Amino acid sequence: MSTVMKLHRRFRRTILALATFCTASILVSAYYLYAGYQQEKDLAEVAPEVDCRDVQPPPPSQLRDVRTRRLPDAARTDPTVLVFVESQYSSLGQDIVTILESSRFQYHTEITPGKADLPALTEKAKGKYSLVIYENILKYINMDSWNRSLLDKYCLEYGVGVIGFSRTGEKAQLTGFPLSIHGSLALKGCCINPHSPLLRVTKASKLEKDSLPGTDWTVFLINHSTYQPVVLARVRTPMNASPPVAKGASYATVVHDLGLRDGIQRVLFGNNLNFWLHKLIFLDAVSFLSGKRLTLSLDRYVLVDIDDIFVGKEGTRMNTNDVQALLETQNLLRAQITNFTFNLGYSGKFYHTGTEEEDKGDDLLLRSVDEFWWFPHMWSHMQPHLFHNESSLVEQMVLNKKFALEHGIPTDGAYAVAPHHSGVYPVHRQLYGAWGKVWGIRTTSTEEYPHLKPARHRKGFIHRNIMVLPRQTCGLFTHTIFYKEYPGGPQELDKSIQGGELFFTVVLNPISIFMTHLSNYGNDRLGSYTFVHLANFVQSWTHLQLQTLPPVQLAHKYFELFPEQRDPLWQNPCDDKRHRDIWSKEKTCDRLPKFLVIGPPKTGTTALHLFLAMHPSILSNSPSPKTFEEVQFFNRNNYHRGIDWYMDFFPAPSNVTTDFLFEKSANYFHSEEAPRRAASLVPKAKIITILIDPSDRAYSWYQHQRSHEDPAARSFSFYQVVSAGPRAPPELRALQKRCLVPGWYTSHLERWLLYFPPFQLLIIDGQQLRTDPAPVMDDIQKFLGVPHHYNYSEALTFDSHKGFWCQRLEEGKTKCVGGGRGRRHPPMDPQSRAFLSGYYRDHNVELSRLLHRLGQPLPAWLRQELQKVR
Ligand SMILES: *[C@@H]1O[C@H](CO)[C@@H](O)[C@H](O)[C@H]1NC(C)=O
Ligand SMILES: *[C@@H]1O[C@H](CO)[C@@H](O)[C@H](O)[C@H]1NC(C)=O
Ligand SMILES: *[C@@H]1O[C@H](CO)[C@@H](O)[C@H](O)[C@H]1NC(C)=O
Ligand SMILES: *[C@@H]1O[C@H](CO)[C@@H](O)[C@H](O)[C@H]1NC(C)=O
Ligand SMILES: *[C@@H]1O[C@H](CO)[C@@H](O)[C@H](O)[C@H]1NC(C)=O
Ligand SMILES: *[C@@H]1O[C@H](CO)[C@@H](O)[C@H](O)[C@H]1NC(C)=O
Ligand SMILES: [Zn+2]
Repeated sequence: MSTVMKLHRRFRRTILALATFCTASILVSAYYLYAGYQQEKDLAEVAPEVDCRDVQPPPPSQLRDVRTRRLPDAARTDPTVLVFVESQYSSLGQDIVTILESSRFQYHTEITPGKADLPALTEKAKGKYSLVIYENILKYINMDSWNRSLLDKYCLEYGVGVIGFSRTGEKAQLTGFPLSIHGSLALKGCCINPHSPLLRVTKASKLEKDSLPGTDWTVFLINHSTYQPVVLARVRTPMNASPPVAKGASYATVVHDLGLRDGIQRVLFGNNLNFWLHKLIFLDAVSFLSGKRLTLSLDRYVLVDIDDIFVGKEGTRMNTNDVQALLETQNLLRAQITNFTFNLGYSGKFYHTGTEEEDKGDDLLLRSVDEFWWFPHMWSHMQPHLFHNESSLVEQMVLNKKFALEHGIPTDGAYAVAPHHSGVYPVHRQLYGAWGKVWGIRTTSTEEYPHLKPARHRKGFIHRNIMVLPRQTCGLFTHTIFYKEYPGGPQELDKSIQGGELFFTVVLNPISIFMTHLSNYGNDRLGSYTFVHLANFVQSWTHLQLQTLPPVQLAHKYFELFPEQRDPLWQNPCDDKRHRDIWSKEKTCDRLPKFLVIGPPKTGTTALHLFLAMHPSILSNSPSPKTFEEVQFFNRNNYHRGIDWYMDFFPAPSNVTTDFLFEKSANYFHSEEAPRRAASLVPKAKIITILIDPSDRAYSWYQHQRSHEDPAARSFSFYQVVSAGPRAPPELRALQKRCLVPGWYTSHLERWLLYFPPFQLLIIDGQQLRTDPAPVMDDIQKFLGVPHHYNYSEALTFDSHKGFWCQRLEEGKTKCVGGGRGRRHPPMDPQSRAFLSGYYRDHNVELSRLLHRLGQPLPAWLRQELQKVR
């Protein structure tokens, strides 16, 4: 070490030692002085080794203020991040959103500059946002003062912090901040300030002296005690700069504004998120600046499955040395991952089908049965969707179970994996049935729900008591068995482990299930290599606590963490090529409706159903004996029976002359779930709804309940029902709700319009359908685009005895809607009429606005009701 450098170090130590006793501002000026000194020396080609351990923490009193921030009550629910992006496609903006999404944080993006900018903060958003992120910090710095004070006020009032990224090529003083930036730099050898209060997931480890990726780094030159460096790095290329940025000098690439100047905390990044350490710090910044409202737990559960035990091709399997190594790896991993145990999936049919050496490997595995966890794959590694007959599937499983019992393999793990994800999703009901019968399976895993990509959207669900967990990808496949031949080169695998995709899979998912194969533990033993290095890297750079749980416990943990994922959301299996490939050839995707008549009840949906069914090109579902002929799939628990069950109500298109299938269930209209579920399974379906005066609908519904012997409806008058107050008996309140809520037309329609575009929705005037159906049916035919026009003026006839339109049959006979429907009842009493007019007034006004927005005409009854308002 040169004398100059020794002197330099001594100087630095003196300042830092002094600083310990000083107030913060003196400390920081000393820090800055030091930086200034360093810059001058740099001109003499001095390259000091700055170590993050030399950075002093701010005094505890200040840190206390920083850590204990006020959390207004309004902001406690539903924390959301407001992200200002440069454009819809900007890559940093997408990286930001990807991380938020992977962490399952809610966010809202706005494009800067945009008119919506700040109104988004002021109006409905009181306390909604817990954090503001600017993809381009200059947009924040250079905001006009009026908007800026609005934002500052919001941040102060709700304790909201700001994150910004600086990617400018320039050097500049940040207006209004005692901070300047210097861009377009190449950096190397960075370190983390161990005193930074931000650190939570990130562990301040010393980084190697490597160069940082890219040459477009910005560093921050600090001039105030409010700024704490979080990450420091040294300049690789000397710059001709003022203030001078010197080769070898150390500068902050991430700074934390503690908010000592104006009460607002900020974290500024001097680059994008391509550098993995910035990504990690970003997560910590999100947690810290949101007052821990957007925080990931430090617990990580990792399960490693080794599938295809006994399946591998001769020459690629494990021999005894490999099995020995596997046991050693497992022990090694237990030091890093609590209770780590490999989970082995076997197909007994292929036992002893390797070379002599490999067969000995099979035997050693079986002698080590107690060291591992075991789960059944499939006896002959067949894909379950190829079995249409459940009993053949059962036979296969029974063979594997016999094998297990013969070799002392435990059979009570209640976990199984299907070859190639087949039958798990899209659901093959035969598989779920057989798994239940033979093995008592409670949990499985797949990469396919809802789709393979993007990985961050993978979810779990529960179907027929089997908990399906999302599985993650670790980059090892059956054929990746040699380090040197890793796709793209071995450095790709190392990159993935060291701060790349695999590392962040563990960081961002509380529970990761990885699939590996027998062959990954023979040959170059890439499986062992990968997980040992991954665990080491996670331990040296994070405070995450790694552990392993048996699959069923893991599944319970998963749905505790993500209870909203319990209910599945079915999709059409043919809409994704990977799904289509594992969909039974004996099934079709076409036994699904082209349109839905959604109700609400008592508006004429049964008559419409009859009229539609008369059309030669339109086919209804076959009736369900249980639910008054309606299938009621999307609104209630029938949904959990799965799409095989639903499709069984429809004829196969190959069997009939038309594929214009439809279904009518009048309770879809006001169901919370139906729009989302319908949009997921039949996104192109057209939706038909019928509206009549909601007061008449309520009355008709009440009469219907009475005629069906509903005890509550029989013991209270209509007026008592509609006008019941909050203290009324619960059964009366429940009846009132069921009577009145479907009449909140706009709220329900808006929910459908969240999932279906307006052109797929047709709103029919029920009064007109009743008095003059032919033109209405013409409109419907046009809306649906049915191939043949059907003349309803000829096909329908008015039955003056019944008082409504019926199907004209031969010899003067008619067919009308059946049973008690259309039964006459006494007119509504004036008191109830007046009450309901008032009750529905606002709803009706909203409906008129909605119809106006959709460009649909107002029905006569609505015009009349609106006139009462004036
Ligand atoms: C606030 O910002 C928006 C756009 O960012 C701009 O249109 C508006 O004029 C600004 N308001 C004021 C008062 O300057
Ligand atoms: C630091 O701040 C002081 C006072 O605010 C100012 O005079 C000086 O120019 C600043 N230095 C830099 C390098 O920005
Ligand atoms: C590890 O597993 C053992 C036995 O299954 C269990 O008793 C113990 O609690 C587990 N340890 C942790 C930290 O979960
Ligand atoms: C299913 O397979 C079993 C035996 O494999 C056979 O007895 C049965 O008839 C088959 N059922 C059907 C519906 O094909
Ligand atoms: C096709 O039609 C025949 C005769 O009506 C019926 O038995 C069969 O179940 C139908 N198949 C399907 C898939 O609908
Ligand atoms: C339908 O039939 C009626 C009565 O026969 C006839 O007047 C009318 O023109 C027909 N409409 C169409 C579109 O064919
Ligand atoms: Zn397999």
